[in-house]
Amino acid sequence: MSGRTDHLRQLDKAHLWHPFTQMKGWTESEYDPLIIASGSGVILTDTEGNSYLDGNSSIWTNIHGHGHPTINAAIKNQLDQIAHCSALGFSNEAAILLAEKLAGLFPENTLTKVFFSDNGSTAIECACKMAIQYRQLSGQGNRNSFIAFGGAYHGDTMGAASLGGIGVFQDRFSANGYHVHRIENPGELEALPPATLESVNGLIIEPLIQGAAGMRTWPAGMLKSLREWCDRHNIFLILDEVMTGFGRTGKMFACEHEEVIPDFLCLAKGLTGGYLPLAATLTSDRIYDAFLGEYEELKTFFYGHSYCANPLGCAAALGSLQVFEEKNVLESLPSKIETFASILREVVDRCPHFGELRQVGLIAGIDLVDARSGEALDWKAETGARVCRAARKHGLLTRPVRDTLTLMPPLAISENQISRAIDALEKATHDVLG
Ligand SMILES: Cc1ncc(COP(=O)(O)O)c(C=O)c1O
Repeated sequence: MSGRTDHLRQLDKAHLWHPFTQMKGWTESEYDPLIIASGSGVILTDTEGNSYLDGNSSIWTNIHGHGHPTINAAIKNQLDQIAHCSALGFSNEAAILLAEKLAGLFPENTLTKVFFSDNGSTAIECACKMAIQYRQLSGQGNRNSFIAFGGAYHGDTMGAASLGGIGVFQDRFSANGYHVHRIENPGELEALPPATLESVNGLIIEPLIQGAAGMRTWPAGMLKSLREWCDRHNIFLILDEVMTGFGRTGKMFACEHEEVIPDFLCLAKGLTGGYLPLAATLTSDRIYDAFLGEYEELKTFFYGHSYCANPLGCAAALGSLQVFEEKNVLESLPSKIETFASILREVVDRCPHFGELRQVGLIAGIDLVDARSGEALDWKAETGARVCRAARKHGLLTRPVRDTLTLMPPLAISENQISRAIDALEKATHDVLG
């Protein structure tokens, strides 16, 4: 190991508190944090010169690969002009052009208005606060609760976390946040009493697939029927496409699979191609118009962040959309997705440690199970994490959701690299479970 890596590891253990990480194990003397030094395409390289496939797109963000020349150039060009300026009362070219491009990805006169913020969580907060204020401004102030699903994950800020349905992220803070009606499946909607329905503002869902729940897929047709149900009951449909947006599911947005247009659409992660933190909440003229009025009417949406519409992030996002267009990225996906699905099916059939496989587009989750009984493993054994650590030796970086192994490579991955990534996961599983 190089002296530089050793030094960085010591400093990391001394000062850096990592997200979603039990720091006790991390700071133990025998644990060596892997330090990423560079990235090119779908390959990440650490400070020791080892290379890995980026199996989870650097936590579900990267789209076209690392160091993409078009996105790098877009960021560098913007940097030569200005890195940041306020969007409070001013504007900037990159944000203006990006707002127009994003609105243009949807049918005319649908999602025409774009509000920029910083990350997935703030995209959700923004949608919920817009929805709450809209109701107040239109004489429906009683509609202030939300319907959200068990297993949902919408982020970690207090409001977004309260919409989430995963205990470890949410239970400690459940006394705070939005008023939420929790349901496990859409069938439960019909059982909600009329008084509850009249108090509901919006229904929020991760369309097609719940990520942090362990890549749990929803039945086909569900999104369309939710849209119809929401319309029948004057309830907003809020789609959280923070994970599914930008081609992950095979179409630009998951909602396109069922031709659904939400009232609010939340985007982040892949918006900048996975280069910089930026989020967008899209909505319609109908919502936007309710906020218009004289200054003293206080209809203004008093919400924002210092880095809203950051020019560097917006330039990166424009670069990413340019790559989608110039490289016909969406057209390249069906054959990659077919390869991904068929190799995954073969491996799951062959390996006794693999249970259920769930896959949508280039997103997959495989449950690790007890090879003899087929039952779930004891989560306390951290088998999923051990398998993912073992996968490093086989040239793959990814992160599990407990004992569900996940793969979500950048769209730029080749079919050969898809095969290598899945192979690495299988080998690592055998290393750990025999
Ligand atoms: C579906 C979904 N919504 C929201 C978020 C929160 O995004 P961020 O981590 O950028 O706040 C995530 C993050 O994983 C997510 O998967």
